[in-house]
Amino acid sequence: MEGQYEKAITRILDGVMFHEQMMLYYNFLGLNGYSTCHKYHYLSELNSYNSVLEYYINKYNKLIIVKPNTDTDIIPSSWYKFTKSDVEVSNIRSGVKTGLTKWLEWENGTLEALKEIYVTVCKEDVTFGVLLQALIYDVECEIKTINENMMKDKATDYDVILMMSEQEGLIKKYNKKIKHDIDFTKMGV
Ligand SMILES: [Fe+2]
Repeated sequence: MEGQYEKAITRILDGVMFHEQMMLYYNFLGLNGYSTCHKYHYLSELNSYNSVLEYYINKYNKLIIVKPNTDTDIIPSSWYKFTKSDVEVSNIRSGVKTGLTKWLEWENGTLEALKEIYVTVCKEDVTFGVLLQALIYDVECEIKTINENMMKDKATDYDVILMMSEQEGLIKKYNKKIKHDIDFTKMGV
């Protein structure tokens, strides 16, 4: 059983790190609305990470080993030698396409991993199963958002001017969500 908690907590922490990378990725491309969207998911999943960790420690009175994976580095190493002013329109177009593809791959992997853990633990630990159900629902919502964004970008042929014009609205939308949906009291165990 302990291995299942370890798996779940590690996957959630890797997700936090994934969103942190995406936050910086879009900031570098000058797409601050997309960056704020990932900041929201970063904080929201940090909340989830702390909730599950807190649940485990309180239930078993034990610490748990969490070793994050390092393969969540999604920023291309070549980007480190450039500055934001070197970014061309073609980099933005390809960056958005790649960013969405990586996000979808990541969340599909998370969905699969959490479902597998849920099936294994839900009978033995119903409460943890309920926690996992909520996380699975969140991931499904993320996948829906990604698919909608992909459809919109395909329909507009990755129109960078349109993308740029949407950023201000997205910053407001996600900052509002950060303010209202994130429980900052859960940021530490
Ligand atoms: Fe996520």
